[in-house]
Amino acid sequence: MAFYYEEPSRTFNEYLLVPGHTPASCIPTKVSLKTPLVRYRKGEEECPLSLNIPMVSAIMAAVSDDRMAVALATEGGLSFIYGNQSIEDQAAMVSRVKQHKAGFVVSDATLSPDMTLEQVLELKEVTGHSTMPVTDDGKPNGKLLGVVTERDYRLSRMSLDAKVCDFMTPREKLIVAPAETSLKEANDIIWDHKLNSLPLVDDQDHLVYMTFRKDYDSHKDNPLEMLDAEKRYIVGAGINSRDYAERVPALVEAGADVLCIDSSEGFSDWQKMTIEWVREHYGNDVKIGAGNVVDREGFRFLAEAGADFVKVGIGGGSICITRETKGIGRGQATATIEVAKARDEYFEQTGIYVPICSDGGIVYDHHISLALAMGSDFVMLGRYFARFDESPSNKVVVNGTYMKEYWGEGSARARNWGRYDLGGKKSLSFEEGVDSYVPYAGSLKDNIAVTLLKIRSTMCNCGALTIPEFRDKAKLTVVSSTSIVEGGAHDVLLKDKTPYVSTAR
Ligand code: XMP
Repeated sequence: MAFYYEEPSRTFNEYLLVPGHTPASCIPTKVSLKTPLVRYRKGEEECPLSLNIPMVSAIMAAVSDDRMAVALATEGGLSFIYGNQSIEDQAAMVSRVKQHKAGFVVSDATLSPDMTLEQVLELKEVTGHSTMPVTDDGKPNGKLLGVVTERDYRLSRMSLDAKVCDFMTPREKLIVAPAETSLKEANDIIWDHKLNSLPLVDDQDHLVYMTFRKDYDSHKDNPLEMLDAEKRYIVGAGINSRDYAERVPALVEAGADVLCIDSSEGFSDWQKMTIEWVREHYGNDVKIGAGNVVDREGFRFLAEAGADFVKVGIGGGSICITRETKGIGRGQATATIEVAKARDEYFEQTGIYVPICSDGGIVYDHHISLALAMGSDFVMLGRYFARFDESPSNKVVVNGTYMKEYWGEGSARARNWGRYDLGGKKSLSFEEGVDSYVPYAGSLKDNIAVTLLKIRSTMCNCGALTIPEFRDKAKLTVVSSTSIVEGGAHDVLLKDKTPYVSTAR
């Protein structure tokens, strides 16, 4: 006879946190959101790889490319570069993240000496940059000939046909530094010589980077940056259980710090085989997460197979239709709570802590707090990050409102059938996701600052300064459908939904 769960499976929306005592010492600025990313043993001093904030971006083409990875690592989180692309392209994205030097910019507004002032103004308009290096071929890594800033031209006195070579500040008058200069040294030169920017050149005098006074300041504003021992950004990458023997070596070579098997359903021999292959070829040097599962058995299977972390969630994603098409899945809150218990039980029995990640179904910022309180070590988000400038998808106008495109990896648009592989030569090909729009929300930095402040505030309301403390102290309550209504604005007419109003006489 089939097994029946006694309790209904629940979503985040059905829970609230009951506040606990807040000591005076517990204020949001003191809260640490550091959390383990990969497995570690009891007694080990520290987890070998931790996140500084409990957020990672989804392994999706509409979400996680190299630009997103840099933006999120800057804030203390991590992106998993999407795997539904050629091995070369994915490895190139990983490599770009690893080569990105915070505060060092490869010029995207480079001039050639024969360009006109009119073209300079056009480029300034398009890029928003007022400092533009001049190279012999107009390329970002050409031989440096000079720099143009607003101080080099006076529109009222000059013809728009004037040539760049006639009004630029020429190379011999520029202060430059060698390509190996550290950001701190570059900043010292900028200050000592009262500069706004400093070109970095190689020994052939080819431009390598530009550094700007303002970039050093913003770099200092990111104390949570996820950096490796060589001060490069930390980045993850998605893999599948089909071409891992070719993909994993390329990603490792490119510098990926952690991998994750991307699949809608992870309780399978394919995942075990993939992890075993990685262990056989790389031992524990390559970190690899697996998933997704929604119950105790699924977690134990992947933990015993050697997964470094386990992702939780089937069908809860905003663009997912797996539950509708296949009838499999589980409410995200219930799945998270059960798998968290299984992780703690596994830790008790083996002394090995395998972090878990609640993946999908996070709609409001407070859902992140709930997932952490329920025992998730960190969360994976797709829709949340897809809304930002840094996501790779197009920004469009829908009915007069800015939106970003966002599509599921199981949608016909993604055609990521490897994610839904059930073995055999021919894979299934029906859709498990949709193609959609999500409201454009601006920059990642601005949005994440608000989200993190909310999480820290909630933790303080529960008297917790760390995530483990939050988990221990959290008191969760199931809410009735009427108390959900009570929780929003109710029985009032919202002004922003009421366009036609006149003054009563
Ligand atoms: P959110 O809710 O953050 O969810 O947008 C992102 C997560 O959804 C999963 N995902 C899919 N699930 N069909 C599915 O059933 C799909 O097409 C699909 N694409 C992504 C994935 O776990 C992701 O992190």
